[in-house]
Amino acid sequence: MIKNFLIVTGLLCIVAIAVLGFQGERRSAPPIEFFSDMKRQSKIKYQRPSDFFADGRGARPPVDGTIPMGYDIPGHPFQNSETPNDIRSPLGEFTAGTDYYNTGKMRARWGTGIPMPATTELIERGQKVYTIYCSACHGATGQGNGITSKYGLLGIANYHQDKYRQMADGQIFNTITNGYNSMMPYGDKVTVKDRWAVVAYIRALQKSQYAKLSDVPEDQRKALEASNP
Ligand code: HEC
Repeated sequence: MIKNFLIVTGLLCIVAIAVLGFQGERRSAPPIEFFSDMKRQSKIKYQRPSDFFADGRGARPPVDGTIPMGYDIPGHPFQNSETPNDIRSPLGEFTAGTDYYNTGKMRARWGTGIPMPATTELIERGQKVYTIYCSACHGATGQGNGITSKYGLLGIANYHQDKYRQMADGQIFNTITNGYNSMMPYGDKVTVKDRWAVVAYIRALQKSQYAKLSDVPEDQRKALEASNP
């Protein structure tokens, strides 16, 4: 018994010295590498040549037809095109300032109000962007019954619940920018201005489900009553 114990202890001592005893010693031989730990990669260093490409240049020009997002290329003002039906935003802005317009926050709280005139044009723009980016989940009328719900996506917000009717505009804006739980962010796809357009459109959707006759301008009420007795 004691003999076995001594043998095991002796072996452990040898292993401990072999592993720890030579720490800090200088060696010229390269260390034994079990995994390369990505120390060596076939990568291109900046401003260096590369024999991978036919022209021998490591730095590559952008692929033809790609559009940088968030800033204009000097001399290529196409992102500022004012073409009315152009789905790219007229401004191409994805800036991330710290003010209400860019964050939806007023100091530490969610602010409310659309920080631009809520014109018919803005709401129509919102409808277009909403239809592209949101309706697949939230549904065309915002009830959370878009096509993805038929394929098993659970818990999609229904904008007609009180919770969302009372939610501050800034918080909805922030949900678009940064996402919320299982909803992914859209801040890299939808420009700041378009996000506000979508918020305005969501408000229009909400209004549409709870509108009272008194919300309709007086001169148009008669026509409405006649069409819907
Ligand atoms: C892929 C599906 C999907 C898409 C696309 C999507 N959402 Fe959502 N959204 C969700 C889900 C799921 C939730 C519920 C998340 C939760 O409560 O955990 C949600 C929640 C929300 C909420 C409520 C967040 C909160 O604070 O409770 C808002 C507002 C919202 N979405 C707006 C939008 C807008 C605007 C767009 C388009 C720019 C959009 N969503 C696109 C799935 C989606």
